[in-house]
Amino acid sequence: MIKVINLTKIYKTHIKQNNPFKDVFLRKYKDIVALDNVSFEIGEKESVGFIGPNGAGKTTTLKIISGILYPTSGFVLIDESTPFEKNPRFLKQIAFVMGQRNQLIWDLPATDTFELQKEIYEIPEQHYKKNVGELTDILKCSDLISKPVKTLSLGERMKMELIAGLLHRPKIVFFDEPTIGLDIFSQETIRTFIKQFQEEFKSTVILTSHYLEDVKKLSKRLIIINKGRIIYDGTLKKIIEQYSLTKRVTITLEKPANETELRAIDIPISYTFPKVVYKIKRSVLPEKIKAITQNLPFSDLSVEDETIEDIIKVFFKEQKR
Ligand SMILES: Nc1ncnc2c1ncn2[C@@H]1O[C@H](COP(=O)(O)OP(=O)(O)OP(=O)(O)O)[C@@H](O)[C@H]1O
Ligand SMILES: [Mg+2]
Repeated sequence: MIKVINLTKIYKTHIKQNNPFKDVFLRKYKDIVALDNVSFEIGEKESVGFIGPNGAGKTTTLKIISGILYPTSGFVLIDESTPFEKNPRFLKQIAFVMGQRNQLIWDLPATDTFELQKEIYEIPEQHYKKNVGELTDILKCSDLISKPVKTLSLGERMKMELIAGLLHRPKIVFFDEPTIGLDIFSQETIRTFIKQFQEEFKSTVILTSHYLEDVKKLSKRLIIINKGRIIYDGTLKKIIEQYSLTKRVTITLEKPANETELRAIDIPISYTFPKVVYKIKRSVLPEKIKAITQNLPFSDLSVEDETIEDIIKVFFKEQKR
């Protein structure tokens, strides 16, 4: 059980004054409020998606929960102990996997980093072998672990990063943008892996990502942070129901149509023959589909949900009002 209680984090940054004397002796500081009274609770074995725009405070929150950073005020309790005490028994239970930071030894094969993790976390030899075996199996990468890290592709390196981070079988895992920069196929591999890992090892997972597909696959619960404040904490389903107001209807026409014919249905969002795309309010969808079938000769018609990105955009707009 993770309890985050009234976390506030203020970073003090030094302002450059273009005057070497002042820069050294009369330093000026600016306060950046990265977190402003953030509270939430996460149950054991729960998986939560943590999203928000750039600079919202996601990484700062995860760093504080995992004990890397001290908050300015507020506190964190994980199973009644606090991460800032850096109790070794506690540290062994958690992992912090960052997509953007590399903990692998660049010139050596990943197995060298794995060995290092084994020493740090005091993993017994037979557990170590078993864990490396299982993780490489799931990720289908046993041929990669003995190649120098610098020769691996970004996606392959991320697999090594995941193995290194999860070798000690942590009970709680923080994934900070694990799929960042990867192509869609590698993203899917990593996503599937995290899901499988979570189901198999029953860990508690907090995941930040800019790709909502990651969150959709991994968690039912979503926490949204913006400018250091939690603005939503609830199910993904609810936010989709509440803020997904339209559906996307794509039609492949059999012959070109003029503007009047197309607009008689609704204002299309795009038209390049033979494809017309409409964004249609959910409440009037059946009648519009009927009108299309009666008035436009088409060879194909598809109705899709909006992307979660669009839904979150609507949510943010509503918040601003
Ligand atoms: N070490 C630091 N010193 C000063 N300011 C910092 C520091 N780290 C983060 N910040 C600032 O704190 C705020 C929150 O940053 P944080 O990295 O937590 O955001 P994030 O939600 O992880 O963003 P991103 O999606 O870009 O990763 C930002 O305004 C950032 O510029
Ligand atoms: Mg971040």
